Amino acid sequence: PAVTEISHYLSMAGGKRLRPMLTALGARAVGFEGKLERLMCVGEMLHLGSLLHDDVVDDGQERRGKPAAQKVYGNPAVILTGDYCFARGVAIAAEDGGLTAVTALAHTVTQMSEGEVLQLLNEGNLELDLDTYMSIIDKKSAALVAWCAAAGAWAKEDMEAGEALRTFGHNVGIAFQIADDVLDYVGEKRFTGKRRGKDLAQRKFTLPLLIAMDRVPSLRERLSVGNPSPERIPALIAEVRECGAADEAIRIAQERVDIAVESLSVLPLSPEREALEALAHFVVQRSR
Ligand code: IPE
Ligand code: IPE
Ligand code: MG
Ligand code: MG
Repeated sequence: PAVTEISHYLSMAGGKRLRPMLTALGARAVGFEGKLERLMCVGEMLHLGSLLHDDVVDDGQERRGKPAAQKVYGNPAVILTGDYCFARGVAIAAEDGGLTAVTALAHTVTQMSEGEVLQLLNEGNLELDLDTYMSIIDKKSAALVAWCAAAGAWAKEDMEAGEALRTFGHNVGIAFQIADDVLDYVGEKRFTGKRRGKDLAQRKFTLPLLIAMDRVPSLRERLSVGNPSPERIPALIAEVRECGAADEAIRIAQERVDIAVESLSVLPLSPEREALEALAHFVVQRSR
């Protein structure tokens, strides 16, 4: 009952259900005809587990418009619930997706863990380079998005379609995380369900800031003296927006969307393929 209560607290608070949608559309786009409900849950359950853990790690205050779960239930119960979500998700992937899908998922969970650790190691690192940033977002979030897109193809052992959908999901996932990082500079809480400026406050330096520090070198110097006080955060994020860094980050994300859409060209035309293309465009549009 405790696990159910905590996981429901987060899952019923909202969320876009992007990952189940990708699984459903990817599967139907490659002609998977079996039942999809449980396979669709896998990506969302892993996502829930990662959000529960992430808000402990990041001391997240709000999630999906509500206090973060650990603010209500405490760290120990939330970490254990996250573990449970991971374990159940993997079990369902094995039962409904088969060996190829569950093996890929095991690698994905490894990457998610590596991505969060790599990000932690780079906290406060003002010399963070673009390659390392890309590696962090690839592992911590694009890997799962890629798995979700390809799961149905792998469940029917269609390796060629699986590779196309994996490439699609990987690029959508990169674009999605860049857009999410931009939203930390431009977003409004009533849409994102999360506070603006928290990445900078926690010295988590993401693409908009990396671009801004190239354009406005004094920014790096000012940040190097220590944590900006909470009162200074709004002016700093305005500076990042005003030098065009958020727009430039979005441009880079849009390139990934274009690559994603292109990678679908090997699949037959279908309403599902068109919906996947629309979804790829949506992840960037929501941060414009
Ligand atoms: C938020 O993901 C966490 C990241 C990986 C950036 P989503 O933006 O998909 O969160 P929900 O599921 O809609 O709440
Ligand atoms: C994304 O990390 C969440 C995971 C991939 C676990 P972030 O820390 O960037 O996401 P938000 O901003 O808290 O949603
Ligand atoms: Mg995090
Ligand atoms: Mg976080």
